[in-house]
Amino acid sequence: MQELIDRIRTLEAKSQVLEPSENLRNEELSRVANYANAFLNGLAESKTFVFSEEMPDRFDITGQPRSIEEILSIYKQEIAEKGINAASGGHLGYIPGGGIFASALGDFLADVTNEYAGIFYASPGAVAVETALIDWIKNLFSYPSEAVGNLASGGSIANLIALAAARDKHGIKGDRIIKSVAYLSAQTHHCVTKALRIIGLEDLVLRTLPIDGRSRIRTDALTESIRKDRELGLNPFLVVGSAGTTDTGAVDPLFEIGTICKEENLWFHVDAAYGGFFILAASVQTLFKGIELSDSLVVDPHKGLFLPYGIGAVIVKDRDAVFHSNRAGADYMQDAFKDDLPVNPSDLGPELTKHFRGMRMWLPLQLYGTGPFAACLEEKLALTKYIRIKLGDLGFNLGPEPDLSVTYFWMDWGAESDAFNRHLLKLIHDDGSSYFSSTLIEGKFVIRSAILSFRTRIGSVDRAIALISDCLAKTRKHFDKTS
Ligand SMILES: Cc1ncc(COP(=O)(O)O)c(C=O)c1O
Repeated sequence: MQELIDRIRTLEAKSQVLEPSENLRNEELSRVANYANAFLNGLAESKTFVFSEEMPDRFDITGQPRSIEEILSIYKQEIAEKGINAASGGHLGYIPGGGIFASALGDFLADVTNEYAGIFYASPGAVAVETALIDWIKNLFSYPSEAVGNLASGGSIANLIALAAARDKHGIKGDRIIKSVAYLSAQTHHCVTKALRIIGLEDLVLRTLPIDGRSRIRTDALTESIRKDRELGLNPFLVVGSAGTTDTGAVDPLFEIGTICKEENLWFHVDAAYGGFFILAASVQTLFKGIELSDSLVVDPHKGLFLPYGIGAVIVKDRDAVFHSNRAGADYMQDAFKDDLPVNPSDLGPELTKHFRGMRMWLPLQLYGTGPFAACLEEKLALTKYIRIKLGDLGFNLGPEPDLSVTYFWMDWGAESDAFNRHLLKLIHDDGSSYFSSTLIEGKFVIRSAILSFRTRIGSVDRAIALISDCLAKTRKHFDKTS
């Protein structure tokens, strides 16, 4: 016995470093805080994009300890200074997030106390926070109080949860799969078809509905398509609308689609991952009319609420449909899973052990209220109008006026337009002081501007325009020479 106790004591001493003293904690905290402050203070001058083809290779687990200084230095050089600087206000590509500082404080608390957010019994407080956040989202979108929701890791998983609920509500399995029809548009985010594959619906009939000149689903085509599919003996069951398309910033006609879905008894899912929180902006609120008719909805706080990556929300009206795919018991959970306790987040999504991600959202909403978020979203809409004017002044062709904050542009260079705009974007990327991404619209190469980072201010847009203007002049010269 004594031998065993001695061994335990030796092992305890060897692993004591995992529980640093208060002094050491303070020292490490202050070093990390100093690094974070230097990073944030330097953001305005930092590059937004540094292209790197090589895999950073200083991350090997050698088994030996390293000092916090060395780790921070590696972090700076190999992580923070390579690729897209997603914290930068110059990030106008893809769908930028931002990463407000208060969320880091929320994460810090959640990590230190290590709440087990998947189960009410384990952390009633964490579950209550997440429930309050879901209730707030339900309220924003006029969902009924009996609707349920989940804070997932992002829009893709949130969409997956909703689509699985649609599948189960309509009993799409076995032989029914190949006869069942889902409707979406060419502007629907690709995570939707990916989710359909993951949930076993790869073989259903997918109808890509035509869109109008502003990228919105044409509801006349939806009605017609449903009618024809029924005539063919098929089983229409799902329509996916977008409240904010990734490429074009468009909001589908939600009220019309919702009305059709009610009449036809189809599940109406709205992917509002990018655009949903613009409902806080009074100037565009009417675009969201009808969203309350949907059966499920996804909205990403790590996009429209400027939170750091790793949080997407889903709300679903039919609790039993969500339970069908997610609720499961086990003998070893018998103390925690009790019918008289509130619903567990683990009953509403695939995760059991769950990071307390609600804290990164709840803390900033408590600290600031919702006003600054609404103002920031309005500002992004105004900046989108501003950048379009500036781009027009430079001679660019512009995509149609977007509903929200993603727009696209291209320089007309005749038969060489695609090559011209590719070259222009390459120069922008090589410089890296601002970042734009590209897409194809009806097969044509265009440059996208997505304004959603809370740090994108008028100064960031002016800097981006100066960069584009400079690269445009160089591209013109290059193409004048080669033509
Ligand atoms: C409209 C839309 N839906 C879904 C997603 C996927 O979300 P995530 O990247 O958080 O998984 C995105 C991402 O940009 C999006 O824009």
